[in-house]
Amino acid sequence: MSEQDKTRQMKLGLMLAQSGHHVASWLHPEAWPDTELDFSKLLHLAKTAEEGLFDFIFSADSLSGEKFTPETLPRTAIGVRIEPMTLLTALAAVTENIGLVCTATTTYDQPYLVARRFASLDYVSGGRAGWNVVTSAHPPEARNFGGGVHPNKETRYRRAREFVEVVNGLWDSFDQDALTLDRAHAQYYDPAKLHVLNHEGEFFRVRGPLMIPKSPQGRPIVVQAGASEDGRQLAAETAEVVFTAQQSLEDAQIFYRDVKRRAREAGRDPGSVLIMPGFGVLVRETQAEAEDVFQQLQDLINPDVGISLLSRYMQTDMSKYDIDGPVPELPSGGDVFSRAGLLLAAARRDGLTIRQLYQKIAGGRGHFQLIGSPRHVADVMESWFHNEAADGFNLVPPLFPTGVDEIVKRLVPELQRRGLFRTAYEGKTLREKLGLPTPIPQRV
Ligand SMILES: Cc1cc2nc3c(=O)[nH]c(=O)nc-3n(C[C@H](O)[C@H](O)[C@H](O)COP(=O)(O)O)c2cc1C
Repeated sequence: MSEQDKTRQMKLGLMLAQSGHHVASWLHPEAWPDTELDFSKLLHLAKTAEEGLFDFIFSADSLSGEKFTPETLPRTAIGVRIEPMTLLTALAAVTENIGLVCTATTTYDQPYLVARRFASLDYVSGGRAGWNVVTSAHPPEARNFGGGVHPNKETRYRRAREFVEVVNGLWDSFDQDALTLDRAHAQYYDPAKLHVLNHEGEFFRVRGPLMIPKSPQGRPIVVQAGASEDGRQLAAETAEVVFTAQQSLEDAQIFYRDVKRRAREAGRDPGSVLIMPGFGVLVRETQAEAEDVFQQLQDLINPDVGISLLSRYMQTDMSKYDIDGPVPELPSGGDVFSRAGLLLAAARRDGLTIRQLYQKIAGGRGHFQLIGSPRHVADVMESWFHNEAADGFNLVPPLFPTGVDEIVKRLVPELQRRGLFRTAYEGKTLREKLGLPTPIPQRV
């Protein structure tokens, strides 16, 4: 291990999700079934993560509820949530340190509006805002925006690239020192330090400027989670944090090295692109206790819901096949969800049936499951962290709130004891905590 490796510390995020990321979590007696609708419960999670010195909490989003079939959807809590930006703005007022990251889609939103919302969150939170850029992988979102055809993946990513460019341009409308607040000369800002964007591209015509002077972070943090060729390339060119759902250390290493290489080729410092795989961590005092809680959750999965979940990830109607038979091949061509390929590979490698595959993904929606004692969980995290697979982890615990309470009580101290995680926050802004440089505006 190099000297630099000895002092490098991992970053931690907590992804919110109803009563936990396990598809059946809301049925478990320990769960709060209405977490995403009850601000005091969401605040408990945010405060607990802050107590645990997490870098950020992350609220995902989708603009359609139609993820499952009409028969199975009402049996799950999936998709039930208040609007993330409203939530994070409220949390900003009652937390001090934790980063606040949420999703906004480049397919159904507008860059001017997104730039304005996230710059505002950055102000309200004192520099703790982050934007998870998504292209909306689920076609039903189109039905809520005029009912047109959901654009194909290649088009969505082309639009996303232009969208991010416009948002960055708008965030750079004012130079850092533009505000003069000079009462004597009645000059609020220096007009030479305000820049009109005048963007005209394939998808957007945006004049600007955004009338929000440079926010505390310079720019909010840009996060991305696409895993396809286009997704990785966009992440490498534009993202500062990259989420991913990798199933094994080997796959995670391939992803990590690939995105870092692409970042280098795009002229960026690969150290400023943090790869944070999702980990479905369930930690209890002992291995047996943790496995027991996980089994309780697995036993609560309704098979129709399990099949529906798998069908969504695999983009194939799995109800047509024998639940205890092999997983069928994926449809060829078209927009195959990148996670489908990863899951199929895992099913083939481990010889899983449909039931076993949905059980495998039920805990964390396709993320790697890590269940056990603090020591066991920390061992795995340490090995990914030190072997070019992760710069940190986006935790997706199966069960809220106990899952988060236990992580902070048991896992965080174990990571700290090993020198792998901070013992105090390093700075006020999310950018400082993540150790990321402030991007320099590119003016043409
Ligand atoms: C941790 C994580 C969080 C994600 N959050 C969202 C989200 O909030 N909204 C969304 O539409 N997609 C979300 N996605 C999906 C990705 O943005 C992306 O569409 C998906 O990984 C497929 O990638 P691809 O289009 O490059 O194949 C998330 C993915 C991961 C791994």
